[in-house]
Amino acid sequence: MGLTKDAFGDDFVWGVSTAAYQIEGGYLQDGKGFSIWDDFVRKRGKISNNEHADVACDFYHRYPQDLEMMRNMNIRHHRFSISWSRIFPFGKGEVNQAGIDYYNKLIDHSLALGITPWITLYHWDLPSTLEIHGGWTNRDVVGWFTDYVACCIKYFGDRVKHWMVLNEPMVFTGAGHFLGIHAPGRRGLNSFLAATHHAALAQAEGARTIKSLLPESTVGTTFSSSHVEPLNTSERNVLAAKRADALLNRLFLEPLLGMGYPTDEIKTLRKVEKFMKAGDEQKLKFDMDFIGVQNYTREIVEHSYFIPYLRTKLVTATQRKVPVTTMNWEVYPESIYHILKKFAAYPNMPPIMITESGASFADEVVNGEVSDAKRTSYLQEVIVQMHRAKSEGVDLRGYFIWTFLDNFEWAEGYHPRFGLVHVDFETQQRIIKDSGKWYADFLG
Ligand code: BGC
Repeated sequence: MGLTKDAFGDDFVWGVSTAAYQIEGGYLQDGKGFSIWDDFVRKRGKISNNEHADVACDFYHRYPQDLEMMRNMNIRHHRFSISWSRIFPFGKGEVNQAGIDYYNKLIDHSLALGITPWITLYHWDLPSTLEIHGGWTNRDVVGWFTDYVACCIKYFGDRVKHWMVLNEPMVFTGAGHFLGIHAPGRRGLNSFLAATHHAALAQAEGARTIKSLLPESTVGTTFSSSHVEPLNTSERNVLAAKRADALLNRLFLEPLLGMGYPTDEIKTLRKVEKFMKAGDEQKLKFDMDFIGVQNYTREIVEHSYFIPYLRTKLVTATQRKVPVTTMNWEVYPESIYHILKKFAAYPNMPPIMITESGASFADEVVNGEVSDAKRTSYLQEVIVQMHRAKSEGVDLRGYFIWTFLDNFEWAEGYHPRFGLVHVDFETQQRIIKDSGKWYADFLG
């Protein structure tokens, strides 16, 4: 790759992303309460090989060494999430001081090493007690969430300036509340639409809470995204692609921008009104300082009468016989270019940061090294596509690789490895992969 980081300017933010449940372990340690993921992994058959993240990368105990390794890899920005049930073991009520202490140590340690924290307040691990009360399907969740947000700002806002409200609401509502394949395992349209509306409210109300308590902070929220293309130019496939795009890319972004839900493409979404109260349209809107875009692949779709509501189905990468990652996602770095152009085309779009991008491949340790050439070239091609979009005027301000350490990949367990650093989950030994060495040089 001919590009250097200088081509992006001095202020461009280069970092890595992680998430609490996927790396911390420290399950129920120091007063932590149960989260919906702690519960979900205990239901047999939900996670590949019935794996769980009770220990994961043991980052809870190993963060000093891991952060030191991060610093030695020239990484100066770390996006990580706070586990709500470490702060409030029952989701609300009494604060768990040991949880506050842990994140204080993590933040202080990062800052001492010259690593800037970028905190995600919710990366999918809702406290179980709140789930018993309906979780994201209960409108009260908005208040529970903003109280938790205010608590984090109170304890950490003196040192942490960059905040993200939610991680990929489309994924935790779609996979967790419609398909039932992620925690909390709810299914069906009703639970999906209720969770959708409450998450969309929470993303704006959470941001408002941060800004009111910490006006100098930079606040964003993150969205999953996928460049969607129809299988061919037939009208019904083109329409199917529009519906998939509305669901995958527009559902949470447009209400935030003040445009309401994309009911033009998906009529069923009108049923969300059942959960709306007077004034909600206004409450859904918030002017973020940045929008976090997360992208891994593209989707090719076609019309199908058999898929309820959406009448659209994916033509999978495996069916198309194109190169795939171990998630069976098409290797298609150009997706990020199309997504950046698409997001940037909205009027009043805030600056964009890529808050996740990466690829899982079957890594092998040979003589203590991991030669993951496919990952390195994927990351390099993404950077080329980012530069292409930026040079065409997209206001792109940063890039966080998913992810620092191999970790617990939700329903897929430990099999897909996305890290720049290999983790042996038996011994907790870390090995910086070739891709990690390349990133260190690139940032050098
Ligand atoms: C999530 C991460 C996840 C990654 C790869 C994103 O959907 O935010 O938690 O590990 O994609 O699947």
